[in-house]
Amino acid sequence: MAEVNLLNKLPRGKRNVNARAEAKSPEVIAESRKYGELYFDGPRTYGYGGYRYDGRWVPVAEDMIRHFGLKPGDRVLDVGCAKGFLVKDFMKACPGLEAFGLDISEYALMHCEPETVGRLHLGNAKKLPFPDNSFQAVISLNTIHNLDRPDLITALREIERLAPGKGFVQVDSYRTPEQKALFLEWVLTAHSHHYPDGWIELFNEAGYTGDYYWTIVE
Ligand SMILES: C[S@@+](CC[C@H](N)C(=O)[O-])C[C@H]1O[C@@H](n2cnc3c(N)ncnc32)[C@H](O)[C@@H]1O
Repeated sequence: MAEVNLLNKLPRGKRNVNARAEAKSPEVIAESRKYGELYFDGPRTYGYGGYRYDGRWVPVAEDMIRHFGLKPGDRVLDVGCAKGFLVKDFMKACPGLEAFGLDISEYALMHCEPETVGRLHLGNAKKLPFPDNSFQAVISLNTIHNLDRPDLITALREIERLAPGKGFVQVDSYRTPEQKALFLEWVLTAHSHHYPDGWIELFNEAGYTGDYYWTIVE
């Protein structure tokens, strides 16, 4: 289990924390948590403000392929794959790599990248419909923190079950009280967030032995 920044090469978008904080309400949060059109392609208040493919995941996929030593014929799963951008870029970065995704959002899957049709499954991170040890790597980016603690532990055990020691999860975190305050202004969908120590404790409780990194609002 190691802390490793596999999203190092992803361009960082500008976040208008003040605008988000002003627009946030229980209704907006409830709408965002439906992971429908408003969340992906509606105004920024509800989430992404337009979630479109632009190839930015290719260098990330290359780093993940290198990190896990993936090769053609291997299977990789992206839990919380949304419209399949990373799944597409895994296949671009390593032709012959069998990349798949799973997401709870029917909207995202219905608007997926054409190359990923048939590779994306509708489902919940807490119950992955695949056999034990069936993937050479399982990735989950900014997704499992949307579960509450018991479900999150279940989701981590699922990742571990599919790819023992070959997971990578990226989750919401903060290293200082100032970063935590900023995060709380920004957050819409996450049910779970911790300082890195809290996350590591949770990983241990789940028996998760894969790698991890943090999404920090700065
Ligand atoms: C912040 S987006 C991240 C999307 C993508 N992984 C990325 O990093 O761009 C969170 C994604 O998690 C999905 N999601 C939320 N809860 C989920 C759950 N319980 N099981 C599977 N997917 C979930 C949402 O539909 C959404 O696509």
